[in-house]
Amino acid sequence: MIPAVFSDRLAALLARGQRTLLGIAGPPGSGKSTLAQALLAHVHNQGLRQAVILPMDGYHLANAELARLGHASRKGAEDTFDSAGYVRLLSRLRQQGADEVIYAPQFLREIEEAIAGSIAIAPETRLIITEGNYLLLDRGHWAHVRPLLDEVWYVDIDPALRRQRLIARHVQFGRTAEQAAAWVMNSDEVNAALIETTRTRADQIFRRD
Ligand SMILES: Nc1ncnc2c1ncn2[C@@H]1O[C@H](COP(=O)(O)OP(=O)(O)O)[C@@H](O)[C@H]1O
Ligand SMILES: [Mg+2]
Repeated sequence: MIPAVFSDRLAALLARGQRTLLGIAGPPGSGKSTLAQALLAHVHNQGLRQAVILPMDGYHLANAELARLGHASRKGAEDTFDSAGYVRLLSRLRQQGADEVIYAPQFLREIEEAIAGSIAIAPETRLIITEGNYLLLDRGHWAHVRPLLDEVWYVDIDPALRRQRLIARHVQFGRTAEQAAAWVMNSDEVNAALIETTRTRADQIFRRD
């Protein structure tokens, strides 16, 4: 499942001995979360239990706050996340105390909201795989993400296949086919166009099909 060039690269990062923060970036529906799970399963199979996934999605603003800001229809855009909070968490993970457990929020698609304190990151955690849309964006608070990560891999996939999977995922979580297609066209694809401009900043391109 994980091509040797990537499993070898990951092994080299882990062999340095210190904690590794690996970023996975890419447009909506490109397969970031799926790849992160596959990487986690891979390191588990290799005997590394001290690994965790930290989704950037956990930093979605709450629906009530998006409504207050008038951004509900733009959910998923770069300014609809607590980007400063995400950066702060990454920074804390770089300086974690020996007795400190750091908690991260998790976004639940079933309710379209994040729940605080969902992901416990123990001090001995060796690998943190963080994945999301804007890891390579070089403006706003997002610009501080890349320097806090060891490497960022970008998930590249045929855009038509990506849109098809994205629509299917929206339907799976409750939208009608029409609503799903409209959301992808009007929202996800606008974000995807921006995210695609950040591809050149990636350390590695992970081609999916
Ligand atoms: N290799 C694959 N084959 C088939 N479906 C896939 C594959 N990778 C991802 N998917 C599906 O495509 C959708 C988008 O993948 P996901 O990992 O959620 O993307 P992202 O996290 O980048 O938004 C999901 O429904 C996922 O199950
Ligand atoms: Mg995802």
